[in-house]
Amino acid sequence: MGWRGILGCEYGIVQAPLGPDISGPELAAAVSNAGGLGLLRAPDWEAPDHVRELIRKTRSLTDKPFGIGVVLAFPHEENLKVILDEKVDVLQLYWGECTKELVKEAHQVGVKVVPQVGSFEEARRAVNVGVDAIIVQGREAGGHIIGQDALITLVPRVVDLVGEKDIPVIAAGGIVDGRGYVAALALGATGVCIGTRFLATEESNAHPLYKRKLVEYDQTEYTDIFGRARWPGAPHRVLKTPFFNDWRSLPPNENEVNQPIIGRSTVHGVEKQIHRFTGTVPNSTTTGDIESMAMYAGQGVGLIKQILPAGEVLRRLVEGAQLIIQRQCDAT
Ligand SMILES: Cc1cc2nc3c(=O)[nH]c(=O)nc-3n(C[C@H](O)[C@H](O)[C@H](O)COP(=O)(O)O)c2cc1C
Repeated sequence: MGWRGILGCEYGIVQAPLGPDISGPELAAAVSNAGGLGLLRAPDWEAPDHVRELIRKTRSLTDKPFGIGVVLAFPHEENLKVILDEKVDVLQLYWGECTKELVKEAHQVGVKVVPQVGSFEEARRAVNVGVDAIIVQGREAGGHIIGQDALITLVPRVVDLVGEKDIPVIAAGGIVDGRGYVAALALGATGVCIGTRFLATEESNAHPLYKRKLVEYDQTEYTDIFGRARWPGAPHRVLKTPFFNDWRSLPPNENEVNQPIIGRSTVHGVEKQIHRFTGTVPNSTTTGDIESMAMYAGQGVGLIKQILPAGEVLRRLVEGAQLIIQRQCDAT
């Protein structure tokens, strides 16, 4: 099986960018320091100075490769300029077109480009524009979900598509421990991209109550009830909290606009009001009715039993996977 590091890291483990403000410098640096690839998340609006600050702060915490995620559905041109100017190791892209021009521009300054895709067709377009790796997101994933396929079918198809090209395929969705890591390798992936497990770590900027719910609850649902006005047509997977269970059949004409304000958050340094059904997950600054806010989580959430330091999560993933592979070798 393809046991190797990817994108200049020791291991094939990528910490997913966690929006809008959950994977900050502390989490990204902790993952990178432990041999994985930590990913920051750029704001959903133009904030080039803030992006530079995030990158520089992360550099002060690690000398290992790290990256930053940009959601192309939101304003991003100024942020991108700073990311290329700062020559961050990896630019992760989601929900928009990864163009040949952008890949070329990034490569000219030594930045690797890694889109997250949710379909075979999207993967084909990524290969054609010369990306450096592809994150394949399955419907099992937490947060927004761009495709419909399960990892078990989509990953091997993308692996076959990539063929002999040196483009690591990275599986994302429902992977929490060494067993998931090895399963992804068995499908032909060379790495895994993990969101929910890293959300439930000491260094993540998620609100402590949200972290506790990730340990407490074990069921998720694919839905579209959060953030319909701000990010239309963007389904997501959330924890089945009592609030979600009460509102899961929200009529299609309803959205977060004109709903009561249930809390406040500082997101990337900007104060925001949280209305009921807003798509913003609670971070460490959030006040108000936290239990009634969106709580994204992947299908693997039932396997999370503890909030751990991110480095420990990574160590367990690697050791767990190595043990399984060793046992398989011993048995044959
Ligand atoms: C709280 C949360 C926020 C996320 N934000 C982003 C994001 O900003 N950009 C992105 O590309 N993916 C985002 N994702 C999706 C991840 O990239 C990844 O596909 C997913 O976490 C993998 O599934 P898992 O959560 O089961 O590990 C987010 C996921 C979660 C749980």
